[in-house]
Amino acid sequence: MGMLSRKATCNSHGQDSSYFLGWQEYEKNPYHETLNPTGIIQMGLAENQLSFDLPESWIAENPDAAGFKRNGESIFRELALFQDYHGLPAFKNALVSFMSEIRGNKVNFDPSNIVLMAGATSANETLMFCLAEAGDAILIPTPYYPGFDRDLKWRTGAEIVPIQCTSSNGFRITSAALEEAYSAAQKRNLRVKAVLVTNPSNPLGTTMIKDELNLLVTFVIAKGIHLVSDEIYSGTVFSSPSFTSIVEVLAGRPDCQGSDVWDRVHVVYSLSKDLGLPGFRVGAIYSSNRAVVDAATKMSSFGLVSSQTQYFLSAMLSDKKFTSRYISENQRRLKTRHDSLVHGLKEAGIRCLESNAGLFCWVDMSHLLREKTFKAEIDLWKKIVYEVRLNISPGSSCHCTEPGWFRVCFANMTEETLELAMQRIKEFVASASSAILRGGCERRRGRRHPSSTDKSLGKKFLTKWVFRLSSSHLREADDR
Ligand SMILES: Cc1ncc(COP(=O)(O)O)c(C=O)c1O
Repeated sequence: MGMLSRKATCNSHGQDSSYFLGWQEYEKNPYHETLNPTGIIQMGLAENQLSFDLPESWIAENPDAAGFKRNGESIFRELALFQDYHGLPAFKNALVSFMSEIRGNKVNFDPSNIVLMAGATSANETLMFCLAEAGDAILIPTPYYPGFDRDLKWRTGAEIVPIQCTSSNGFRITSAALEEAYSAAQKRNLRVKAVLVTNPSNPLGTTMIKDELNLLVTFVIAKGIHLVSDEIYSGTVFSSPSFTSIVEVLAGRPDCQGSDVWDRVHVVYSLSKDLGLPGFRVGAIYSSNRAVVDAATKMSSFGLVSSQTQYFLSAMLSDKKFTSRYISENQRRLKTRHDSLVHGLKEAGIRCLESNAGLFCWVDMSHLLREKTFKAEIDLWKKIVYEVRLNISPGSSCHCTEPGWFRVCFANMTEETLELAMQRIKEFVASASSAILRGGCERRRGRRHPSSTDKSLGKKFLTKWVFRLSSSHLREADDR
């Protein structure tokens, strides 16, 4: 260990959180329809596998793009040679145009403000490298994507200070929470450099409303700090309210015209979620700040997008017929899948935060906790991973402040696998409730084994209990 650097060996990367441990457990016993039907179903991975057939058909109709060819002629040698780190102009044009299309063409992006990076992971890390260092703080609303602990803190040495959001208002950011986080950072002698938000949110699956975005802009203007908007899920918004980019909010505010706040607002994007291509490693930083763009471009040497990927995607994304069909069809499929999950969970007496985007739902299982603690949340999570054999992500791994929430992904499996997962969870809730009932009967009558009458009584009671649970949840949802 002494041979390695302190940064390499310190554990601020967060890789030992239950979020990543769940993936490891899944790898040991992965579900397969025929080869391992009792294995763990992976519901902890935000992958979008619902629309692969669309790019596949496009490739079949456009064989040149993936075959290193232009007008039938090989361009292998051109692509194989070193490309400079500014990226292919054709690809940057196609990418900014795709980003505008996702935002309903309400926002225009200048290709000279974009820096290509190997995914949003690389983009977030590089941006943080440009903005912050040890002794600096980034404020992030909770719950947040667990990968940020690795991406933002590990190599930069900066700290994340949480903006505490709660279920009382659907985890929306409030002015009080922003101010509290700012003071908390100051108390720790940290210099606040930025607020970072994910819009639409991972893990909530919700889009930020305009009031929230305006609140953020007003806050960063007042404090003279940066605002980073990770918009990696912008193309996954499947129902209203529609997606509003931070750039649209800035453009619409008279007080921001000609203001230096434009130099302090940066967007992170990637094709990993919207196009379902995390393996291609394509991401970007968008910023109007020339110094940030220049520094990030130099840094991009550490994580370039390969030239054949840029060539292939510039051809696909320049086909407007393809992009428009893809965007709408993908959103339609996400909505159908989201609805199936919400419906299946509701049948098990479990409710989700109402959501309109993303590849997951934010699910409230607090009623299944033995007590309202994070220890009980991890115990429940272990049961769900090892006994129910579903890998979901506990809210604590996303720094949620309330125990009992879990992120459940729905777009990385077939409809049949999702149905099986719902069947498993229903059986689990039923047996967990029977155990509660048995405990109650035993307490009332003194310890003894349950009789068949107990069991049938239990069933009736259970049905009522699940019904009561779902209706009280519906009431709570209405209250939000
Ligand atoms: C909010 C957020 N940002 C960044 C990433 C990283 O994405 P990429 O695969 O493009 O590196 C993810 C992946 O899950 C994410 O959810």
